[in-house]
Amino acid sequence: MSSKSISVTLKVWRQSGAGVKGRLETYRADNISTDMSFLEMIDVVNEALAADGREPIAFDHDCREGICGMCGAVVNGRPHGPEKGTTLCQLHMRHFDDGDTIVIEPFRARAFKMIKDLVVDRSPLDAIIAAGGYISANTGGAQDANAILIPQENADKAMDAAACIGCGACVAACPNASAMLFVSAKVSHLALLPQGRPEAASRALAMVRKMDQLCFGNCSNERECEAECPKEISIVNIARLNREFIAAGIASTVM
Ligand code: SF4
Ligand code: FES
Repeated sequence: MSSKSISVTLKVWRQSGAGVKGRLETYRADNISTDMSFLEMIDVVNEALAADGREPIAFDHDCREGICGMCGAVVNGRPHGPEKGTTLCQLHMRHFDDGDTIVIEPFRARAFKMIKDLVVDRSPLDAIIAAGGYISANTGGAQDANAILIPQENADKAMDAAACIGCGACVAACPNASAMLFVSAKVSHLALLPQGRPEAASRALAMVRKMDQLCFGNCSNERECEAECPKEISIVNIARLNREFIAAGIASTVM
């Protein structure tokens, strides 16, 4: 694929902190190689801002390889930008045209408090994991795991669910700012494996309760989460979460 340079206009959300009024500011990004990632393009803009004595744009990132879940912003109205199944750090400038105007905003959700510019606090997702997204059984060594027979279909489904990187794009995409896709991925990847079954009921109850406590909304089957998820987590997992949650609720009232 041949490389070329493009120039784009950015309209970037700038906000110095929570409770402070924010606004879109306009910047030029000139002579940007189409081989650059979106974040590298922001790096170039930030270098120019810093050289000019102006405040660089704050944004989250870490691995820049699509695996850590740290990056994330809404690009032209879409969490992680226009490419399906792609994190913002893996989005390349070849997907934009010379002369484009690109609007960049933070993930907006009631549960995600503004920190600065494009950075919001996604630690409520960590709190949901801490509420039950783990197993406490001693699973032994690798040879013990290999001794437990698991249907290939379940192993594949668990692996697909485990691909969730906890980025929060599903929350930002949902009109209700629900974290159901995230929670369902975490519940599913453990519930589908024998090691995760002993705590499946308490896990589903605890994680859903924590999600509600932290002001995430309810799922109303919009499917925006599935459409924008960079790991293409299926909403089939939400159906599984609902089954796990209802069964756990019935079991807790019977006991
Ligand atoms: S389900 Fe998808 S969009 Fe939601 S946190 Fe996981 S990887 Fe991100
Ligand atoms: S920076 Fe790690 S997934 Fe994008």
